Amino acid sequence: MADAQKLEHLLGIEDLEVSSIRRLLDRGKKFKSDLEKGKKKFIHLRERTVVNLFFEPSSRTRSSFEMAAKRLDADNINFMADSSTSVVKGETLIDTAKILEAMSPDFLVLRHGSAGAPQLLSKKLEIPVINAGDGFHEHPSQALLDALTIETTKGSIEGLKVAIIGDIAHSRVARSNIYLLNKMGATVTVCGPPTLLPPHVGRLKVRETYSVQEAIEDADVVMILRIQFERQNTKQIPSNAEYYRLYGLNNNTARQLKGGAIIMHPGPMNRGVEISPQVADGSNSVILNQVTNGVAIRMAILACLEEDRNRGRV
Ligand code: CP
Repeated sequence: MADAQKLEHLLGIEDLEVSSIRRLLDRGKKFKSDLEKGKKKFIHLRERTVVNLFFEPSSRTRSSFEMAAKRLDADNINFMADSSTSVVKGETLIDTAKILEAMSPDFLVLRHGSAGAPQLLSKKLEIPVINAGDGFHEHPSQALLDALTIETTKGSIEGLKVAIIGDIAHSRVARSNIYLLNKMGATVTVCGPPTLLPPHVGRLKVRETYSVQEAIEDADVVMILRIQFERQNTKQIPSNAEYYRLYGLNNNTARQLKGGAIIMHPGPMNRGVEISPQVADGSNSVILNQVTNGVAIRMAILACLEEDRNRGRV
């Protein structure tokens, strides 16, 4: 792969070439296969240190980056920027990242509520920065683990019809998935109430509908998204019950799915708001597979960044 894009950071999917996405997915598949065979220790990041710097809550992303780092034999520091840290005394994002970098880690994984925070740190730090979610903007490792989940259940992404239902306007997961799915040859339909679809959604090269029935009728993959109340200044739906009635994926709507269609959700789920417990735990659901694949894909991200950093050192 002589002309392959060199990965210096992982900031988003929008700027990733198809060959880089392919490389990360193939590497993720190999790690997944080794992990499934019971292998628990790899040596790719021996004597390296990964810092997780999280300014927003996380269960899956933070713990799976930690798991991925440990599987690759790296040391791992978790820094939750909460009331136990000097962030509450007014220390800025850049100063916080700089003090952590002064302790000589090798990678920084950042989650932040402001779009563009990882891009900013990538210009200020010498080490690779990995975006673990920035505001409404992108969540690239989520899109990659979703792609790995789709490929391992459906074979290929090319030619698939994917419906993304829910709060598209406030979702970094939707944005990263739309970029990736379009690049890999899928057709994407977004669906939600008008208040939860972003203005100018057509610029994202997706079909748009307000009707769940229309979105799912020919879908191979259905991604359900949570309503991100924490990113909304005013309530944008009349009530959770009304939303569930019109947009929640329940047994009745799930029965209309094409045979073999899979149901995904990045989590955290609000059961009884955007998805029924029966559908979340049903036979079409691959929601826990997504979590499992998160470890393999985050191992792939760390291993590929390390490989390219070593290429730069030669
Ligand atoms: N999907 C996702 O980002 O989940 P967490 O917020 O739990 O990390």
